[in-house]
Amino acid sequence: MTEQQTTQSVTPAATQHVTPAATSPAGQSASQPADGDQRAVVTGASSGIGAATARALVADGWHVVALARRAERLDALAQELGDAVEPIAADITDESSAQAAVETILAGGPVKALVNCAGGAIGKDPVATASIDDWRAMYELNVLGTLRMTQKLLPALKKSAGTVLVISSTAGIEPYEGGAGYCASKFAERVMARVLRLEMIGEPIRVVDISPGMVHTDEFSMHRFHGDAAKAAAVYAGVPDPLKAEDIAECVRWALDQPDTVDIDSIVVRPRAEGSYTKVFRK
Ligand SMILES: NC(=O)c1ccc[n+]([C@@H]2O[C@H](COP(=O)([O-])OP(=O)(O)OC[C@H]3O[C@@H](n4cnc5c(N)ncnc54)[C@H](OP(=O)(O)O)[C@@H]3O)[C@@H](O)[C@H]2O)c1
Repeated sequence: MTEQQTTQSVTPAATQHVTPAATSPAGQSASQPADGDQRAVVTGASSGIGAATARALVADGWHVVALARRAERLDALAQELGDAVEPIAADITDESSAQAAVETILAGGPVKALVNCAGGAIGKDPVATASIDDWRAMYELNVLGTLRMTQKLLPALKKSAGTVLVISSTAGIEPYEGGAGYCASKFAERVMARVLRLEMIGEPIRVVDISPGMVHTDEFSMHRFHGDAAKAAAVYAGVPDPLKAEDIAECVRWALDQPDTVDIDSIVVRPRAEGSYTKVFRK
């Protein structure tokens, strides 16, 4: 999908969902567009779901700190979306890089939301032969990177009655063969979100987990299969309509726009054609 298509499909979705919710039968606003001063940090904003999330939030009135390693991608996003985007190139697996990024973020003002989207799968080998290095990289990124960013921004998020949001995966709900390393890391992310939610009870903070099933993004499966385009394409082959990055972005936008006192604990979202990782309809 092209960048242009991405931008076009986000804006109407955001509008459609905000308007009916604002006129709920109870006469209360169930979903609130951002007030224009709200600032969200989106990790993994240089591609896929993170980039789509940045677009959806900006279209909804948020300021977005777009964080990832590839500065040129973030700069392109900032050019596309304008002043509402603050690009910050950082590696969340690296303590000093993450610390410097957080100091820059906090110097720029309050933070209302952290969207932990940076992550990915590396390899699809059985437990018996899986690469320890692949597992370590997934743990460093998906588990410890998410933990690191969450820990560093939690005090600021508490001050602003903010939200920690984690993009985990249905891989964190039901494991599958060849997926032990990725699934274990996504189980860990979901547990982190759930336990943080319990530990934050009584504090002015929400914790949201979004667990997507199959989402067709440009890079996710390419990374998983170490750049093997044929293997990456086979993941989505014949599936009528895998989810798009924009579908997940809309879930993020909707969850964040709920009133501060409404915590969307968990969203599990899959394409209609996918009942589970191993039960997928293909034409
Ligand atoms: N696609 C799916 O089917 C699917 C399904 C369920 C869940 N998810 C989850 O959704 C999230 C996004 O997936 P996606 O499909 O959008 O994949 P993607 O396009 O590969 O995005 C991954 C993002 O993470 C960033 N990243 C990687 N390593 C990083 C690091 N060390 N520090 C900072 N940023 C880093 C990448 O940017 P840089 O390379 O520029 O750093 C990129 O922006 C992941 O957590 C994934 O596990 C995806």
